[in-house]
Amino acid sequence: MSVKTLAEIRADFPILERKVHGQDLVYFDNAASAQKPRQVVDRISHYYLHQHANVHRGVHALSQEATDAFEAARRRIADFFGAASDREIIFTTGTTNGINLIASSLGKMLEKGSEIVITQMEHHSNMVPWQMMCEDRGMVLRVVPIDERGQINMEAFQNTLNSKTRLVAVNHVSNSLGTINPVEEIIRLAKGVGSLVLIDGAQSAPHMKLNLKELGADFYAVSGHKIFGPTGTGFLYGKEEVLGNMPPYMGGGEMIDRVTIEKSTYQGLPFRFEAGTPNMAGAIGMASAVDYMEEVGFDFIQKQEEELLQYAIKELNNFGGIRFIGEAEKRASLVSFLVEGTHPYDVGSLLDQQGIAVRTGHHCTEPVMDFFGIPGTLRASFAFYNTTEEIDRMMVALDRARKMLS
Ligand SMILES: Cc1ncc(COP(=O)(O)O)c(C=O)c1O
Repeated sequence: MSVKTLAEIRADFPILERKVHGQDLVYFDNAASAQKPRQVVDRISHYYLHQHANVHRGVHALSQEATDAFEAARRRIADFFGAASDREIIFTTGTTNGINLIASSLGKMLEKGSEIVITQMEHHSNMVPWQMMCEDRGMVLRVVPIDERGQINMEAFQNTLNSKTRLVAVNHVSNSLGTINPVEEIIRLAKGVGSLVLIDGAQSAPHMKLNLKELGADFYAVSGHKIFGPTGTGFLYGKEEVLGNMPPYMGGGEMIDRVTIEKSTYQGLPFRFEAGTPNMAGAIGMASAVDYMEEVGFDFIQKQEEELLQYAIKELNNFGGIRFIGEAEKRASLVSFLVEGTHPYDVGSLLDQQGIAVRTGHHCTEPVMDFFGIPGTLRASFAFYNTTEEIDRMMVALDRARKMLS
């Protein structure tokens, strides 16, 4: 159990008390971006008001203090996510940045004809960088299909792997279907053909306790804003023995060892991948978000989110005329669906008028929508601060929306 009650947790998120269109806000767009507890905002403002200076460069006390706080944030992230060392944590602007970093760096290393394996359910962030890399550098993108329930076809996955596979890049949790993918099995199979593995952890990190060393992926990308931290933050985990042998993707200050007019040499991990002044306040804020999640506790987070998921499925089934998109055996706390005879955009707009924030559209997974032959879905994605009473409000709003549209 959490040391806090649900009411106390909700009180940490002042935005949950606001009104939208004159109605109490129900925020069910957590998969797009999670709300921030007061503790995270306070930590960032403390940094700016009392600790800020540029890091790593100064001999003066404030710079040392800012550097200590920034590097403590890195250690906190490494520790919380079970990395073997803080050198394995590269601060990024988010999952997209982490994946692009690997695509740019790996693109310089792999031979032409190398194969990159992804799945049909990837977010565009874990699809477009590989398309670009394959186009630029003569590699081959292989895409594993999904099934009607929104699960990876594991037989097809196994058949796609071969001696030319150099990287498997898969999401841990699908943002449009909610599917929790069998990443342990995917990593085991990929390792069987000697491939590297990148896991897109944008939608898993907010919901489950991770131990990256035990998981065994070579790379794992996370967005800070989805784990209750500030926007424009994130981290890329990379195994030291892999990432440490990869070339930098951006040049500039901080990442160099020695610069002459003719040539430069580069720092080791993590700095070789952090060119320029980093987002110190962001990293410190992200570490405090992790502190907050730990305080709430994953026992509470998982219990609350499972209850919300099951309740939403039950209520939507009772409502009738719902087509679920994504009915995997293992699911995270989101429901993606269509209301028969309506367009998701129209329903989403009518929900908004009633204070209910859900997302409509393709959720940056157009190939998933193509597979199901639909323009998009309504997606309600839950966080541990949501309640079943809020789902009741969504159901009342859905009923009104359907009546208005029919
Ligand atoms: C599965 C998945 N991957 C990647 C991303 C991209 O994350 P960001 O926009 O924070 O870089 C998202 C964002 O929604 C996502 O859901």
